[in-house]
Amino acid sequence: MTQDDLRAGQIDTSRPHPARIYDYLLGGKDNYEVDQQAGDELATAAPEVRIGLRANRAFLQRAVRYVVGSGVRQILDIGTGLPTSPNVHEVAQKVAPDVRVAYVDNDPIVNGHAGALLSGSGTTSIVLADLRDPQAIVDHPEIRRIIDFDEPVALLLVAILHFLTEAEKPEEVVATLRDALPAGSFLVLSHATDDFADRSAAKAIYSKATATLNLRSRPEVERFFDGFELLEPGLAQAPFWRPDTTPPPRSSEIGFYGGVARKPA
Ligand SMILES: C[S@@+](CC[C@H](N)C(=O)[O-])C[C@H]1O[C@@H](n2cnc3c(N)ncnc32)[C@H](O)[C@@H]1O
Repeated sequence: MTQDDLRAGQIDTSRPHPARIYDYLLGGKDNYEVDQQAGDELATAAPEVRIGLRANRAFLQRAVRYVVGSGVRQILDIGTGLPTSPNVHEVAQKVAPDVRVAYVDNDPIVNGHAGALLSGSGTTSIVLADLRDPQAIVDHPEIRRIIDFDEPVALLLVAILHFLTEAEKPEEVVATLRDALPAGSFLVLSHATDDFADRSAAKAIYSKATATLNLRSRPEVERFFDGFELLEPGLAQAPFWRPDTTPPPRSSEIGFYGGVARKPA
């Protein structure tokens, strides 16, 4: 996909969108007034939200370094978001330059930034697809060009599953993806939760967005790892998953779980 694929008509600027709210809260420029308004409301409702998002990004980077350090050379990143430096392929290829990365997102604005996400080496690609149709992702020719499903894959579902309602069967969606992966593959997952603080105000803000916020408890998030072995320290609040610096202040309030699991032989 290229810039040419980005047709203005595909972008709904009348309602806030998760990718753009996230970009705004992380200090990015790819957002509209509706997204900024929702982001400001979110930061008022939950003042630690920006710390939480940065902690989620930092978790993502540590987890990518870990899986690549463990030998995996292909990454499928579903719900990649707008380019936020360093991007997954930059983190991964710093550890091992031969890592191949397939990015997936359902937001055309993310797809429009393909140039910023692509390494230009033919080993990184972006596909416009929806997590709610996981088989279409696995079967997509461009994904198949980058990812060899006979070799271990690191599947990244980072800060995306909470945009799926229970009616959209996230458990089945993740099971379809897990089943497509061979032994030795990794699942890197983070998910928003209200286990540590009341998040009803945040939920109300997302109810006006293009995707709702579906907070889940520890056991509800742990089921996404079924059949995989969670690595130490298990599912943890994002700043406490194998931290490489002192966790930021208010880390114990952060409403993001993060975990990494491996598919056994
Ligand atoms: C909060 S951002 C997370 C970005 C990145 N994974 C990270 O953690 O920094 C969530 C991303 O998921 C995408 N997304 C939400 N629902 C999706 C779906 N059903 N299929 C594909 N992408 C989706 C959004 O467009 C957005 O870019």
